[in-house]
Amino acid sequence: MSGKVAVVTGSNKGIGLAIVRALCKQFQGDVYLTARDVGRGQAAAESLASEGLKANFHQLDINNLNSITAAAAFFKEKYGGVDILIHNAGIAFKVADTTPFAVQAEVTLETNFFAARDVLTHFLPLIKRGGANTEPHLKK
Ligand SMILES: NC(=O)c1ccc[n+]([C@@H]2O[C@H](COP(=O)([O-])OP(=O)(O)OC[C@H]3O[C@@H](n4cnc5c(N)ncnc54)[C@H](OP(=O)(O)O)[C@@H]3O)[C@@H](O)[C@H]2O)c1
Repeated sequence: MSGKVAVVTGSNKGIGLAIVRALCKQFQGDVYLTARDVGRGQAAAESLASEGLKANFHQLDINNLNSITAAAAFFKEKYGGVDILIHNAGIAFKVADTTPFAVQAEVTLETNFFAARDVLTHFLPLIKRGGANTEPHLKK
């Protein structure tokens, strides 16, 4: 159990992947790209490797409580907690989507509220004390 670790949820593409890329360049510690789909996550980590960047991968589906608790247990066991957590995973229906509003509301709340709450319930207790305010995290 050692070293600093940064974890980004929903980071196989988009803003999450960009955050992982930036952390790989600047964070003094291990960076974890997480994704609900192992194939998409590993492909994203490989794309970063082709840029010369080292991102570790761990599966994390925020809609699956077992996946959340397994990931939280992994970071507690391997790193004694988490130094930086960026909860980015989320969904948004396109404006033109014709799915009934009630369904859009339910699906959106499931991920963006209830799943986010579950992630934070299990990960916030792992956030290490001190953290960014007291210890240098960035590469010189
Ligand atoms: N871009 C914007 O203008 C904007 C505006 C407001 C808020 N946001 C929010 O900012 C975040 C990033 O935006 P983005 O534009 O980069 O979105 P994006 O390209 O749609 O990427 C969203 C990421 O979240 C992942 N994700 C969705 N549901 C998940 C789940 N249950 N478990 C784990 N990962 C899950 C997606 O994985 P898959 O590839 O497997 O789907 C994807 O990696 C999102 O939460 C989005 O809602 C974005």
